[in-house]
Amino acid sequence: MSQNLEKLKEKIAEAHKGGGEQRIAKQHEKKKLTARERVDYLLDENSFEEIGILVTHRTTDFGMENQKFYGDGVVTGYGTIHGRLVYVFAQDFTVFGGSLSETHAEKICKIMDMAVKVGAPLIGLNDSGGARIQEGVKSLGGYADIFHRNVKASGVVPQISAIMGPCAGGAVYSPAMTDFTLMVEDTSYMFVTGPNVVKTVTNEEVTSEQLGGASTHSTKSGVTHVTAANDIICLENIKQLISYMPQNNKTAPEKLEFKFGDEHREILESIVPDSSNKPYDMHEVITGIIDQDSFFEIHKDYADNIIVGFSRIGGRCVGIIANQPMSLAGVLDVDASKKAARFTRFCDCFNIPLLVLVDVPGFLPGTDQEWNGIILHGAKLLYALSEATVPKVTVITRKAYGGAYDVMNSKHIGADLNFAWPTAEIAVMGAKGASEIIFRKEISQAEDPEKKLAEKEAEYAEKFATPFEAAQRGFIDEVIMPKDTRRKLIRAFSALENKSVLRPDRKHGNIPL
Ligand code: HXC
Repeated sequence: MSQNLEKLKEKIAEAHKGGGEQRIAKQHEKKKLTARERVDYLLDENSFEEIGILVTHRTTDFGMENQKFYGDGVVTGYGTIHGRLVYVFAQDFTVFGGSLSETHAEKICKIMDMAVKVGAPLIGLNDSGGARIQEGVKSLGGYADIFHRNVKASGVVPQISAIMGPCAGGAVYSPAMTDFTLMVEDTSYMFVTGPNVVKTVTNEEVTSEQLGGASTHSTKSGVTHVTAANDIICLENIKQLISYMPQNNKTAPEKLEFKFGDEHREILESIVPDSSNKPYDMHEVITGIIDQDSFFEIHKDYADNIIVGFSRIGGRCVGIIANQPMSLAGVLDVDASKKAARFTRFCDCFNIPLLVLVDVPGFLPGTDQEWNGIILHGAKLLYALSEATVPKVTVITRKAYGGAYDVMNSKHIGADLNFAWPTAEIAVMGAKGASEIIFRKEISQAEDPEKKLAEKEAEYAEKFATPFEAAQRGFIDEVIMPKDTRRKLIRAFSALENKSVLRPDRKHGNIPL
C-alpha cells in the first residue's frame, strides 16, 4: 500500500512537469502560460478536479514506446467559475506540441460526454500542432470523435474555445463548431494549412500571423469572436462570457438582483442628430439603455456596421443586435447578416432574450454584395430572427427602410414588442429615391423639376419618415420617448419572461446556410 502511494505521488509529480522544465521555460519565453497554469487561473481557487492524469499514449511506432508523458498532452477535468460548474480541457504544448493522439482525444471526449450528461458548459483551451503525426489515422479518428461530440453538444451546453497557441490542421475544426472562439494576440494562430503548404500550392508568401493570426480572424474572416492581448486577459474574457450564459438549454441565465428605481435616461434624448443623414454612435444608445458597464461585445472588429453582444437590462441577461450608423450608415451587408444571424441563434439556443436596435437604410447594393450572395446571407438573418422563440423586442431609433425593416425583428416576423422613437422613419425607401420613382412624370413635366422634386420629397417624408403610419397599423406597439427606453425595456423583458411558443413537429428547419 505505502509502496503504491509513493509510486502514485511520483507519477503525479511527473505529470505536473508536462514535457519537462526546458519546454515549460520555452513556453514562458513565448509569453504563454502552461496548460496547468491556465486551468488554475480560469477556475475558482482549488476547485479543479483532474480526470485522467495517468493516461499515456499507446503508440509503439517511431520509438514512441520510450517517450511517454503522464496526461498525454492534455489536462482535463471539471471545476467552477464564480461557483458554477464547468468542464475544461487544456492542451499542453510542452508534450509533443500539444498534438492530438488517440488517447488525448479519448480524454477530451470523456469530459465532453460528462459535460453534456450533467448539463454544464465546456471550455477548451487549445494549443496544439494538430494530429499527432506518429499516430496516423488513429489521431484523425480522434479528431472526428471530438467533432461529432461538438455537434451533439451544440445547443445543449455552451461550448467555448480559446486559441492560446498554434492551432493547425484538424485542431481548427473543433473550435469552429463551438459557440465562441477567442484568440490571444501574437501567440496564437489558426489555419487549415500553414504558410509552407500555401507557398507550395498557391505560390503565395504569407506569414503565420497574416494567414491566421488573431487580427486576421477578428477582422477579415470572422472566425474569432473576441481577441485578448495575453493569456490572462483571454481567460478573464472567458469568465465574463460564461457569466451571461445558462448552464444548458434547459435553464435560464442567472438574473442579478435589481430594484426598479428612476430608470429615465435623459442622455438618450440627444443622441440621434437632427439631420437624418448624420451618423451617431449606436454604442451610446446601448450604454444609455443597459445596466452600467454590462456590455460584452462579440465580433467587435468584424462587420462593424452591426453591433452584437451580451448585456444586462434590469439584472436580466439580454443579447443585443444593433445597426451602427457610424459604419456604412448601418447598412446590412453579407458579413453583418452572418454575424447577427449566428449571434441570434446562440441566444435562441440558450434562452437569452433579444433586443434589436434599428437604424438601417437597407441592404448594401452592388455587384460585390450580389455576387457574394447577399440574398442568401441576408436570408440567414431573416430566418434566424423569425425562428427565434426567445422574447424579442425591437426599438427603431431612426431609419427602418425596405427589406431591412422586415428583417430587423419586425412585428411581422414574430417580434413580441416593437417600439419606435419619434425620430423613426419607416418606409420602402428614402424620400428622395421614392419621389424620383413614383413622381417621375410629374417632376419631368414640371417647369422647375428640382423644385418639384423637393416638394414631392417633403410630401413623401411627411407621410412615411415618421413612426405614425406603422403605429396606426399596429406594426409598432408604442412610440416612446428616448429617455423612457430603459424603463420600457425593463418592463417588457420582465413581462415576457414566461413566453412560451409551441414549435411545429419537424426534424429541423432548413436555414439557408
Ligand atoms: C507530433 C508534434 C506535432 C505533431 C509539433 N510536434 N507538432 N509532434 N505531431 N502534429 C512536436 C515537435 O516535433 C516538437 O517536438 C514539439 O512538438 C514542439 O514543436 P516545434 O515545432 O518545436 O514548435 P514550434 O516551432 O513552436 O512550431 C509549432 C508548430 C509546428 C507550428 C505547431 O510544430 C508544426 O508545424 N507542427 C506540425 C503541424 C501539422 O502539420 N500538424 C498536422 C496537421 S494535419 P520536439 O521533441 O522536437 O520538441 C491534421 C489533420 C487533422 O491535423 C484533420 C482532421 C480533420
